[in-house]
Amino acid sequence: MTDSTHSLNAPITPYTLGELESGPPCCVPVPHLQVRNLSVSYHGVKVLSDVSLDVYRGCITALIGPSGCGKSSFLASLNRLTDLLPGAQASGEVLLNGEPTLAAEQDVSRLRLRIGMIFQKPNPFPLSIRRNLELPLLERGIRQKQDINRRIEKVLCDVGLWEEVKDRLQAPAMRLSGGQQQRLCIARALILEPEILLMDEPCSALDPLSSAVVEELVLSLKGRYTVIIVTHNLAQARRIADYAAFFWVSEKSGKLIEFNRCQSLFKQPQHPLTEAYIAGLRG
Ligand SMILES: Nc1ncnc2c1ncn2[C@@H]1O[C@H](COP(=O)(O)OP(=O)(O)OP(=O)(O)O)[C@@H](O)[C@H]1O
Ligand SMILES: [Mg+2]
Repeated sequence: MTDSTHSLNAPITPYTLGELESGPPCCVPVPHLQVRNLSVSYHGVKVLSDVSLDVYRGCITALIGPSGCGKSSFLASLNRLTDLLPGAQASGEVLLNGEPTLAAEQDVSRLRLRIGMIFQKPNPFPLSIRRNLELPLLERGIRQKQDINRRIEKVLCDVGLWEEVKDRLQAPAMRLSGGQQQRLCIARALILEPEILLMDEPCSALDPLSSAVVEELVLSLKGRYTVIIVTHNLAQARRIADYAAFFWVSEKSGKLIEFNRCQSLFKQPQHPLTEAYIAGLRG
């Protein structure tokens, strides 16, 4: 038995908020979202317990951990998608620039404009490429054609799609490849000018080449947007994330075990479970 498997018998100690270890910051560590004692339940059963962490502005934070440890539930609670899931309830506190997002008086539509979401399976509207981007603008009250055209071109350039689709903007979005569809979905989220992008395994339904293109795109968003990305691909987390949070299920509920600068979490994990997970021994 190795030292690390031996230490796995030690009690599970969830992460408590504290100073991150010192070292050169990868980007300015200003909290954008402050999560405090966040729990999520479905039909009264707690699946995520007491998560506290800070999400830093302009940085990429990766959420890692085995299936069922509550990563998607955590994301869904951040832009109140949990409100739409039957039986779901989020409790605790989430502050967006200091403003409590879980409060009853929060304007949820406005919150979702500020915090966009990208899902595992690309989900463009079954409409033209152009219409996918025009509709969110019309909903925001932007109606001037030149302005719409300018915004569509800019956002398609930002996701690296403009050259690929500029001559067929009226073509159905569903005819794009999976990777192109995912980049279109990212463009659709960006056109609403969010502050934060939540990405739930955005590459896992894509072939390796498309996955690499979307990964590059996520990396290019760093600095301009705050990104929280769930990934089962640990190599991807290491390549792109500034911070990483490792979740685990114990006593039937997901817990945050460790949160740190990404490179520190992978190089010097503080918890034996993190060490075992990233070594492929557990999970
Ligand atoms: N809509 C729902 N209704 C009831 N239970 C749910 C719902 N969504 C998730 N759960 C349960 O909550 C727990 C956490 O699920 P969640 O999807 O958040 O985990 P995850 O870490 O994202 O897993 P994966 O890596 O497989 O996507 C699981 O036990 C799951 O069965
Ligand atoms: Mg999930």
